[in-house]
Formats: sequence, C-alpha cells, structure tokens
Amino acid sequence: MARIKIQDLKNFCINALEKEGMKPELAVITATVLTKTDAYGTHSHGTKNLHNYIKKARAGGLTLNAEPEIIKEGPSYALMDGNNAMGMVCGVMGMELACKKASETGVGLVTIRNSNHFGAAGYYANIASEKGMIGFVVSNVDPNMNAPGARSKALGNNPIAYAAPAISVPSVFLDIALSNVASLKVFKARAEGKSIPDTWIVDKDGLPTTDPSRYPEEGAMQPMAGHKGYGLAVFVDLITGVMNGGATSMSGEIDSWVLSLDKPNNVCHTFIAIDASKFIGEGVLAQRTEDMAQTLRSLPKAKGSQRIYTPGEIEWENYRKSEREGISIPDDVLESLKGLAEDMQIELPVFD
Ligand SMILES: NC(=O)c1ccc[n+]([C@@H]2O[C@H](COP(=O)([O-])OP(=O)(O)OC[C@H]3O[C@@H](n4cnc5c(N)ncnc54)[C@H](O)[C@@H]3O)[C@@H](O)[C@H]2O)c1
Repeated sequence: MARIKIQDLKNFCINALEKEGMKPELAVITATVLTKTDAYGTHSHGTKNLHNYIKKARAGGLTLNAEPEIIKEGPSYALMDGNNAMGMVCGVMGMELACKKASETGVGLVTIRNSNHFGAAGYYANIASEKGMIGFVVSNVDPNMNAPGARSKALGNNPIAYAAPAISVPSVFLDIALSNVASLKVFKARAEGKSIPDTWIVDKDGLPTTDPSRYPEEGAMQPMAGHKGYGLAVFVDLITGVMNGGATSMSGEIDSWVLSLDKPNNVCHTFIAIDASKFIGEGVLAQRTEDMAQTLRSLPKAKGSQRIYTPGEIEWENYRKSEREGISIPDDVLESLKGLAEDMQIELPVFD
C-alpha cells in the first residue's frame, strides 16, 4: 500500500488549497483536519474528499474564503452563520469558541447554520479533549436514511461524536454516523462492485438489500439499531437546524455535498464543550477517564476475543503508526489524491 508522511500530506493539501486561492490560514485548518482524519484511519472522511470540495467551490456551491460569523452570543453560547464556508473551517472555529466559553463559564455551546460537510465529527470533539474538556459534536446532513416503517429516505444519518481526555491514549472518543455505517462506505462498495451486508441499506420498497448498485438513486441507509438510531438522528436535528433556525435534514433544504456541487450544502453543526474542572478540580477528569478506560480494557474477554478496546483507541493506534511509518493510503484515496495532484499540477509526495 502507498504511504505518505503526515506532514507531507498536510503540505500537499495546503498547496492545493492555496493554489485554488484559499487564504493560507484557512488552508492550514482544512488540511490539518483532513490529514489527521486519514492518520486516524478514517479514510472515508479525510483527504479523499478534498478534490470534491474544490470542485464544489468551483461550481459555486461552497465559498472557499468565507468564514463563519457570530450572529448572537451570550457568556456560554453563540449562534454562528457558516456563510457557506468550508465545513472544516466552521468546525474548528465553532469548537474553539465553545471551548473558550466553557473555560469561562463551565460549559460552552456553539451552533452553526449554513455550513458545509465537515468530514469526521470526532476531530472537533478532540479539540475539546486536547484542552482537558469533554467535547460533544453533532451535524445534520442531507436525507439519506429511512425511519422504521418508511419506504425511502426520511432524514440524515446525522453524525455524533464525543471525546474526553485520558492518559494512556490522548482521549476516549466515539465518532459515528447514526446509520449502521457511513454512506461513503456504501458508495465505495458500489464503486468496487461488491455486495454489502443486508443491514446497511434498504431498497426502493423499504426492504433490506445486499445490492448497493442502486443507492443513492433508490433506497436509503438503515438507522443504527433501528428505532434507537432513528430517535437519536431526530435529536441531532433538534439541537442543530430546529434549534438554530437553519435547515433540518427533513426540510428539503440540505443538498448532497457529493451530488449537488453547484448548490450550498446548508448543513448545521452544534459543538458543546464542558470544563469538568469546575466540578472535580483541575486535571482530575483525565485520571477519572483513564480509570474508566482501564476498567473496560481489563473486563473478562468473550471466548475467542483477543482484546477489548475503548472508543477511539483503534484510531489512536492508527495515528501513532501513521506518525512512525507514514499514513497507509488505500487505493480509492490514492486515486482521488492523484486526480487532485494532476488537476493542480503539484506533486503527490507518496512513497513505497
Ligand atoms: N460529516 C458528515 O456529514 C458525516 C456523515 C456521516 C458520517 N460521518 C463520519 O463518518 C465516519 C465513520 O462513521 P461510522 O458510523 O462508519 O463509524 P464506525 O462504525 O466505523 O465507528 C467508528 C467509531 O467506533 C469506535 N469503535 C470501532 N470499533 C470499536 C471497538 N471494537 N471497540 C470500541 N470502539 C470501537 C471507533 O473508535 C470510532 O469511534 C465518522 O468519522 C463520522 O463522523 C460524517
């Protein structure tokens, strides 16, 4: 498998974005988020998508140099307009502001409307954990998931992530879509001509199928754990678009960031940071999270099980390996990066 050093991949993305005309400080934010996501091993939401974001900006569906702005705020909250800026820029600025407010008041909530696809939600939750806080992040997305009993797409598979600082790993963090899998995994199986488990999508009649070849034109993603994933996705819409006056995944105002390049994506995000030092004292949270993690890892194992992971542990192991050996780049990501390199006339710093 091809490999690229983390810093080299980041510089490649910065070069591509600056060549496209993005301000250096915004290019650095975007490149850092996407590269770290690949280093975690979450390749479906990393640098693979950069070429598509650039194409979207060219088609008029995303404003490369826009930045989110505060519309209303109080000591512990803010409402921001994303101004159709790059989703990564909205994500980083939103969570940084939530953390700033939390450090003053104990809790900070920032909600953003009119944003774009921000990639992996876990990146932003980890901004809070790096500052010793608990981070919670949600985003609504275009409708791609069904509701129990519904025939077709009803609402988004609205991702949700949390992170808390620990000691043996930088954080305990969960980063998931509320469908059984993220839709980009279905696109990948379709592109590779592979069948999928019958728990991933439903067909045009609302019935489970193993054939991804008609998705997304027909059918919908299945909610994670049936009514539970569905109910949580409704909650995400409540604390994003419903609550902040922006688009909801059911409103018909969120267009696919992959398929509708010329239209604003219009998604909403909400970022919550909690400064637990206000409750239990400075630096205590990481130790208590670590104690919990150790308890989980040392549980009696099921027959045949080698190991019990804490949420996020697999990603941190991938990250450490990427730091040591470079990021292993899957074929689909490599293909997309090569396309970007050719388009921008810059060299892809790949080795192996
Ligand atoms: N921006 C968007 O519009 C959007 C939409 C959907 C999904 N996404 C992103 O897609 C990505 C993938 O989502 P997904 O639902 O396919 O994730 P997934 O099912 O691969 O689950 C990943 C999470 O589960 C944890 N995990 C996995 N195996 C584990 C184990 N054995 N023990 C403990 N924890 C374990 C991981 O640490 C990680 O936190 C996420 O980064 C999500 O934010 C983004």
